[in-house]
Amino acid sequence: MSFAVDVITLFPEAVADYARTSILGRAAAEGHWRLRTLDPRSWTADVHRTVDDTPYGGGAGMVMRPEPIVDLVESVPDLARPVLALTPAGRPFTQADARRLAAGTGLTLLCGRYEGIDQRAVDLVANEEVSVGDFVLAGGELAALCVMEAVVRLVPGVLGNEDSLEEESFGAGLLEYPHYTRPATYRGRDVPAVLRSGDHAAIAAWRRAQSLARTRDRRPDLLARRGGLSATERELLDRHRLDDPAPGE
Ligand code: ADE
Repeated sequence: MSFAVDVITLFPEAVADYARTSILGRAAAEGHWRLRTLDPRSWTADVHRTVDDTPYGGGAGMVMRPEPIVDLVESVPDLARPVLALTPAGRPFTQADARRLAAGTGLTLLCGRYEGIDQRAVDLVANEEVSVGDFVLAGGELAALCVMEAVVRLVPGVLGNEDSLEEESFGAGLLEYPHYTRPATYRGRDVPAVLRSGDHAAIAAWRRAQSLARTRDRRPDLLARRGGLSATERELLDRHRLDDPAPGE
């Protein structure tokens, strides 16, 4: 059975269009996963098909009403689980979440528009509330696409080269090392000589040092979470003259 993604959204075309055009599109055509969009507007009962209303307590904007969302979830018997609600007030979505979800059978992404979704609907139907970053989008759709792509690319068979998953950013709690391709010299800048040496141990050590230095300079929070640098890692950075952040970095 292929991996199932359901997206609850007022903009089903935006979600389906992206899923069709990216690498995800080919993977769906090959049967590795399937996407279904569900529009809460189809679960409204009134003649105006109202999905939003003014917020209790006052304030700007409109809030998505609970009934269409809860009715939708309760009337689709094979809805994919778990259900994740996208909101800037959620906990940060991480690569560890993507790995955990890709190991399951699917997921449902609940997108809010306007100022958000009535919290009772979220509490009733969502297993988790997640954010894709400390910034505010106009709605949950782009966030849902981020989560969908991060998860589906890890589903077995979707990516051609599964080795590349081991080394990429966050694989070991570190940022990825820099990549280079031809030409060997471009605008006066040389590809690091070690990468052209054919010495696989030296290349691995250089890449490891680059990952550690990048993470230390750009994401000290990630480095702290894995317990900082070990004595061996400090020595590796020293040896590659990466002991201090370069000026401007
Ligand atoms: N909806 C609006 N902004 C969002 C964010 N940063 N993450 C998840 N959902 C959102």
